[in-house]
Amino acid sequence: MTTSLPLSPDYDAWPIEADLEAVSFTSRLLTVRWSDGRESRYHGIWLRENAADETTVNPATRERILDLSTLPGWPEITGAEIDEAGALCVNFVTDVGYLRFHPGWLRAHDYDNAGDPEPPLVPVTLWYGGTEASPDSLDASDLFDTEPFCEAEEAILAPALMSVLSKGIVRLRGLPTEPDSLKAIAQRIGPIRPTNFGLLFDVKAKPDPDSNAYTSIALPPHTDLPTREYHPGLQILHCLENSVEGGEAVMLDGFAVAEALRERDPKAFTTLTRVRWCYANTARTTDYVWYSPMIRLDHRGELLEVRIADFLRGPLQIPFDEVESAYEALMTLQRMLREPGFAIRFTYEPGDAVIFDNRRLLHARDAFEGTSGHRWLQGCYMERDEIRSRYRMVQRARRRRRLTTEV
Ligand SMILES: [Fe+2]
Repeated sequence: MTTSLPLSPDYDAWPIEADLEAVSFTSRLLTVRWSDGRESRYHGIWLRENAADETTVNPATRERILDLSTLPGWPEITGAEIDEAGALCVNFVTDVGYLRFHPGWLRAHDYDNAGDPEPPLVPVTLWYGGTEASPDSLDASDLFDTEPFCEAEEAILAPALMSVLSKGIVRLRGLPTEPDSLKAIAQRIGPIRPTNFGLLFDVKAKPDPDSNAYTSIALPPHTDLPTREYHPGLQILHCLENSVEGGEAVMLDGFAVAEALRERDPKAFTTLTRVRWCYANTARTTDYVWYSPMIRLDHRGELLEVRIADFLRGPLQIPFDEVESAYEALMTLQRMLREPGFAIRFTYEPGDAVIFDNRRLLHARDAFEGTSGHRWLQGCYMERDEIRSRYRMVQRARRRRRLTTEV
């Protein structure tokens, strides 16, 4: 008699929201009824390839080893029942006997009743600026007193990750101000993406600069490294020193600006989702060039990224008749980027680290007086994947704790 539930085909924990009560099947389709009355249908082929047994998944890695093309035929269902442990048992005519499915996993992957097959991890919240606005700010002074992946670290990271996923920005405060400590801060989330500017880059006025960022002039609203095929999804700027006059940071939600453009001037919006601008750096030792629309949408028509940096835009190379409408759309967007209602302004304090979505937010900087003091930020890039993965790990840890408590 089997009294324990089977593994799921992953490393996650799947609390049981409802029990399996009844099962019926045809050769290709299986239907279950749950204790709360919901009915879910699963295709036999889907069940076969998502089994967790050793013919389907490598037990060491939990990665699939089953190759569907090696099955002797379509995996038709010949039997199904709910066992004593509450697992779904399915018998297939081909290659294996019966396979067991974890009810919590099965319910969580109920594609028959899924409203949105790819729900966002955290819903996107657009934001606007103004004099009262400031980024979500969190005290992270205890971060380095916590062990990685423990509950105390999670208490600091979880709300930070949530702010980045929903608003594209968070400001952590009270962090160390030792040079290079950004490396350890970033690695609490995930690996850093190195670029030609290094693993970490120093944002301060320096002689012989290879970017406008390394001068004391004002920078217009921009995303970093639009010259890359895949421009970095995240940027972290960590303040080590700031005693200069000026140099206030400015941030805008590029998605809020783009949505406002869609509303006010749909033609300009559509133009900017189609025209492929040239982004090119003109550095002495590197030569990055990429062509892309300024606004990109996902398969649902939702905003995926904005790619804006006037000082890195190369000569437009598009069909002759489209040039004027492209520039009209661009100038409409540029005027909106200057509207104070979109911008938040703040001054970096030593020990602040601002984490922001570089494919959503635009950042800018006022000019500062290079001789009035010192302004030293260190920065690095990461990918959006790292924030999403880390946030899922937090959710996984919470589910696991919930399971342990229930047991
Ligand atoms: Fe920048």
